[in-house]
This record gives sequence, C-alpha cells and structure tokens, in this order.
Amino acid sequence: MLVTGKEILNDAHEKGYAVGAFNVNNMEQVHAIIEAAEETKSPVIIQASQGGLKYAGVEYIAAMAKVAAKNSSVPVAIHLDHGTDFKQIMMCLRNGFTSVMIDASHYELDENIRKTKQIADMAHAVGVSVEAELGKIGGVEDDIAVDEREATFTDPDEAERFVRETGVDYLAIAVGTAHGPYKGEPKLDFDRIKLIKERLNMPLVLHGSSGVPEESIKKAVKLGINKINIDTDIRMAFHKAVKEFIKENPDVYDPRKIVGPAKKAMKEVIAEKMRMFGSESRA
Ligand code: G3H
Ligand code: 13P
Ligand code: ZN
Ligand code: NA
Repeated sequence: MLVTGKEILNDAHEKGYAVGAFNVNNMEQVHAIIEAAEETKSPVIIQASQGGLKYAGVEYIAAMAKVAAKNSSVPVAIHLDHGTDFKQIMMCLRNGFTSVMIDASHYELDENIRKTKQIADMAHAVGVSVEAELGKIGGVEDDIAVDEREATFTDPDEAERFVRETGVDYLAIAVGTAHGPYKGEPKLDFDRIKLIKERLNMPLVLHGSSGVPEESIKKAVKLGINKINIDTDIRMAFHKAVKEFIKENPDVYDPRKIVGPAKKAMKEVIAEKMRMFGSESRA
C-alpha cells in the first residue's frame, strides 16, 4: 500500500529500526525491491535520483512505483532523492510522490534553511513528507585530511536550529559516509549520530550506505539511523550478473534472459539489506 515517508519513518524511529531506501531507474529494479519487501515483510522506500528521473522520466518512475505500491501488502513510500530543482519537486508532488528530499546542503546555513523551508511548507500543504540535508555528504575522495573531513560533518547545534526553523520530517546527516564505492573502510562518527539523535529525537537518514560493513550499519541503526540509502550495491549486483550471463551465453539476445538473473541478484542484495537494517517483519 502507498503511504507517506513520515508514516514509515516515524514507526522506525519509535521502535528503533531502519528502512531501506533503494534507488530505481527501471522496471527490473522496481520489481526487485518490491519482491524483496514482500519476501521479508518489510516497509520500503522506492526512490529516484536526479539521474534516475532524467533517464526514465518522472511519469514513468511514478507510474511504476505506484503500481508496485498498489499491489503490495507492505507499506511503500515513493521518494525523490537529492531534489534540487523547485520545478522538479513540484512535478514529483503532482505525480504522486509521497516524500521528497530537498538537498540545499551546498548552500550556507541560512540559505539552506530558506530553501528547505519553502519546499517543506509546500510539500506539507499537500500531505507529502520532507527530507533535507545538513552537512556535506560527498563522493569518495582520497587523501582528505581528518580535520577537513570533520568540517563537513553535521553540527548538532546547527541541526537543532535547522529542524526547528524548517519543519522537515527527517534529516540526512554527514557522519563519514560517501556516495559510490569506498576505497578503504569507511569510518563513521558514531558519537555524532548518538548526539544528534538525542538532540533532535526524530528520524535520521544515512546516505552513501553501499559498501558500509554490516557491523557499522547495525551500530548506526542502534544509535538512531532510520532511513538507509542504497544505490551502488544494487548497481554492482546488476553489473556482475549481466556480465556473468553474457560471458556464459554470448549468443543469447533476448533482453528478458539477459536481465532476468540480474533482477534476481538485485532482489537478493536488497532482501539482505532489509534483514540487516531490522525492517524484516515490521510491515
Ligand atoms: O544520490 C545518489 C545516487 O546514488 C546517484 O545518482 O542516478 O544521479 O547517478 P544518479
Ligand atoms: P550509495 O552510492 O552508497 O549507494 O549511496 C546512495 C545514496 O545515498 C543515494 O542518495
Ligand atoms: Zn544520497
Ligand atoms: Na557508498
């Protein structure tokens, strides 16, 4: 069933577990996510990035995700990931997204607050939940100095002010994760997660979660993370399965046969994440 992001994440916050937010660009990914959610009885968030919307189109993404939600027995939210563009956010609202992220984290604090509040007021007026980002969650960078790295982390005082003044429903925080694959092992600032959770007492979001070891994920969930974004690990499962299939069956040209095993591989990765995050049997 289709629900708002807030319905899913408030339950996760109250009960102390996390829900996976998985990026989609095509039908096979939507199928993989919804099948994994049904199998594990997990609530789930289907999300589309800027790149995803550009590739598939907002109407296609929304239509596929809505069919998945309508036919499912588990709660499903449809979310815009890293929204930056006012018009695009409006298009998502019009097309039935039940959650949107406004990412104005690259602006200085006052401007981030101003832009975020504008979107939050509008989305809330039509019953749609809102995520925002404070601090900077980048891509994987090599050789960045420790103090430089920490300067990009979310400040708990600023976070309190940010949430009070914008009214967002959940907050993405920068605590050491990065988008894409990691070169070494990511080092998360667990004390910061704990402190921000105590100060805000609301659902928190972890971006860049592909490649983060299971132990770190579980610790982060225990300390207060409730939404966990996964894109890269799904892409890698897809890539590996397609590569293997073509290597073993170089003459098969039926697209269904080529991407069928990839769909199954994505589903397995997603179901494993759901169990790891603690969302199993919460639906
Ligand atoms: O936010 C990050 C997504 O993993 C990347 O998105 O679809 O724009 O490449 P993309
Ligand atoms: P990964 O690239 O680590 O999967 O992160 C995805 C993400 O945060 C999408 O918003
Ligand atoms: Zn992200
Ligand atoms: Na990552």
